[in-house]
Amino acid sequence: MSSPAATLGTAGAVTTAGVLRSLNVGLPRDVAWHGRTVHTAVWKRPVDGPRPVRRLNIDGDGQGDLAGHGGEQRAVFVYQLGSYRYWRAALGRDDLEPGIFGENFTVEGLADDEVCIGDRYQIGDAVFEVTQPRVTCYRVGIRLDDPQMPARLVAEHRPGFYFRVLAEGAVQAGDDIVKVGSGPEGMTIAEIDALLYLPGRSRHQVARALRIPALSPGWRSSFQQILEQKSGGGNAGLVAAAPPPAWPGFRPLAVARIEPETPTISSIYLADPGGAALPAALPGQFLTLRLRPDATGQPVLRNYSLSGAPGTGQYRISVKREPHGAGSGFLHARVRVGDELEVGAPRGTFTLRPGPAPVLLISAGVGATPVLAMLHALAAEGSSRTIWWLHGARTPADEAFAAESRALVAGLPGARRLVCLSQPAPGDNVDDQYSGGRLAGPVLSALDLPRHAEAYICGPDRFMADISAALVALGIDAGRIHTEIFGASPAQTPGIAATPVRPPHQPAGEPGTGPLVSFARSALATRWDPSHGSLLDLAEACDVPVRWSCRTGVCHNCQTTVVAGTVRYSPEPVDPPADGTVLICCAQPGEDLTLDL
Ligand SMILES: Cc1cc2nc3c(=O)[nH]c(=O)nc-3n(C[C@H](O)[C@H](O)[C@H](O)COP(=O)(O)OP(=O)(O)OC[C@H]3O[C@@H](n4cnc5c(N)ncnc54)[C@H](O)[C@@H]3O)c2cc1C
Ligand code: FES
Repeated sequence: MSSPAATLGTAGAVTTAGVLRSLNVGLPRDVAWHGRTVHTAVWKRPVDGPRPVRRLNIDGDGQGDLAGHGGEQRAVFVYQLGSYRYWRAALGRDDLEPGIFGENFTVEGLADDEVCIGDRYQIGDAVFEVTQPRVTCYRVGIRLDDPQMPARLVAEHRPGFYFRVLAEGAVQAGDDIVKVGSGPEGMTIAEIDALLYLPGRSRHQVARALRIPALSPGWRSSFQQILEQKSGGGNAGLVAAAPPPAWPGFRPLAVARIEPETPTISSIYLADPGGAALPAALPGQFLTLRLRPDATGQPVLRNYSLSGAPGTGQYRISVKREPHGAGSGFLHARVRVGDELEVGAPRGTFTLRPGPAPVLLISAGVGATPVLAMLHALAAEGSSRTIWWLHGARTPADEAFAAESRALVAGLPGARRLVCLSQPAPGDNVDDQYSGGRLAGPVLSALDLPRHAEAYICGPDRFMADISAALVALGIDAGRIHTEIFGASPAQTPGIAATPVRPPHQPAGEPGTGPLVSFARSALATRWDPSHGSLLDLAEACDVPVRWSCRTGVCHNCQTTVVAGTVRYSPEPVDPPADGTVLICCAQPGEDLTLDL
C-alpha cells in the first residue's frame, strides 16, 4: 500500500478516500452492432499486479475513439462500486462484473456526489487529478446491452469521472486511494454533469464551474457557450445555438425583383405580399424554398443563403443555375416578378459572431452568398474590425457581386479585398485587388492574416477542406473556422467503421403509410413506418447523413432543424432541444415533417 504524497503542495488534508478494487484495461476491437461494425475499447478486463500508468493511458489500455474518449484529460476512467450496487438493484442484474461500465479503475468510495473537479489523489506511485465526468456515448449501452444506459447514467446522477495523470507511476488493485488536494469551488462530478446535461441550470453555477482550472478544456468551452447563449432555448453547451425561427413551416413570399449577377447567377428579392417588413435574419442564415417545378406539383425543397443586407425588410437570395438542376432551373427559367414562393423562415448557425476579432470572409463561386450578407452586416454597423474579403472565381465575368463587395470593402476602414482568378485572360488583373491563380494555401500564407481571426468559408467541399487546413497550418484555431456546406452535412457516427457512401434512397422493404418525412438537403421524401423506431433510424435506413453520439436524448449531437411539421418523443429527451429543432434519436413524426438534413 502506498503512502500519501506529502510533497505535492496542494491544498487540503491528506486522507484515505477509498480503495482501488479492480484495475481494468482493454484495447480497441471491432464489434458487430445492428448490422454495422463499431470500433470500441469499452470492453475492459481486470488485470493483476502493478501496471504503469502514463500520461495518456494505462499500459495495455486504449480508446477506440481518441477524439471522444482519449487524450491527456481522459487518461483514466473511474467508476464506483457504490454505483454498481445501485445499478444491480435498479436494473435487477447480477452480471455486472468490474469494467463493464468501461472504467479503468473500479473503486470503493469516491462517489460522484462527493468527488470534485480538481480533487487530487495518490494511488500507488501515481498522482491523479479529476478533470470531467463521463463522455455520454452509446457504447456503454452496447456493453451493458441496454440502449437506455447513456441517458440513465446522466439522469440518475451516476456518470463516473476521468482522471488526468499528474505523476506517472505503477498502480495495482488493492491500492489505497489517498486524497492529496481539493479542487477550488468544491463542485462535485454529479453537479457538473447535471449542469451540462440536465435542465434548470443556473448561470451562477456555470460561472463557478469556469473558475475551476482543472476542468477539461472541452467542458470549459461548453460552459462558456452556455454563458454566452442569448435566446432560443436548447443547450448551447452541446450544440451551436440559433434564435427560434421567425415563423413555423412555410409562408408565401412575393418575388419583388430579379437581378442577373453573372451569366449563371441571378438574385431574387422576396417580400411580404402585403408589404409588411420581413423579420431580420442573422447574417449567414439561409431560407428553405418549397418549389413545385413540374406539372405534377410534387414539391422539391432547396436551401438558399441570404445574400443581402440583413434587416432591410426584404430577403435577397442569389441562385446559380445548375445544368439540369430542378430547383435552380425552375427559379431561373420560370419564376417572374409578382409570383409567390413558399418559403421557410431564416435558419442556420453559420452566422457572424459579434465581437472585436478580425474576420476572414472566404468564398468561391456562388459560395459568396452567406459571407456577403456578413460583409453587409459589418458595413451596416460601421465595423472597425480587421476584415478580409477573399474570393475565388474563374474569370472576371464569373465573379459575382464584384462591384458590391468592392464598394462595401471601400466603406470599411479595416477591410481589404483580394479576388483570385483561376483562368484570367491577359489584362484581367485590373488592380491590386485581383491576382491570377487559385485561391488556396499559398495565397493565404502570403497575406499575413491575423491568427486570432474568426474565419467563415463557403464554396465547394474540396475548397473548404483545403482552405480550412491552410488556416490551421497558419496557426488559426480550428474552433474559429466556420464552414457552410451547400448540401448535406457529412455524417458523424462515432466509432462506426466506414462503409461505401451511398446516395440517399428509399428505405428497404414495404413503403410506410405514416406522415411524409422530407430530408431537405438530401432531396428525399419517404413515408414513416413505426418499425423504424426513431427519425434517426429512418434517416440511417435511407443513408441520409446524420450526426449522433448517445442515441438516447442526452448529448444533443443529433439536434436537427425542423423546417415544417411537428414531432413526438419516445423516450423524452433529458433536456429539450432548442426551439425549432428536434433530437431525431428519440423522436417520431407527429405529422408531415421537413427536416434540414
Ligand atoms: C445551407 C445551404 C445554402 C445554399 N445556398 C445556396 C445559394 O446561396 N445559392 C445557390 O445557388 N445554391 C445554394 N445552395 C444549393 C441549393 O440548395 C441547391 O442544391 C442548388 O441550387 C442545386 O439544386 P437544383 O435543384 O438546381 O439541382 P438538383 O436537381 O438538385 O441537381 C443537383 C446536381 O445534379 C446535377 N443534375 C441533376 N440532374 C441531372 C441530370 N439529369 N444529368 C446530369 N446532372 C444532373 C445538377 O447539375 C446539379 O449539379 C445551398 C444549399 C444549402 C444546403
Ligand atoms: S444522439 Fe445524443 S441526443 Fe440524440
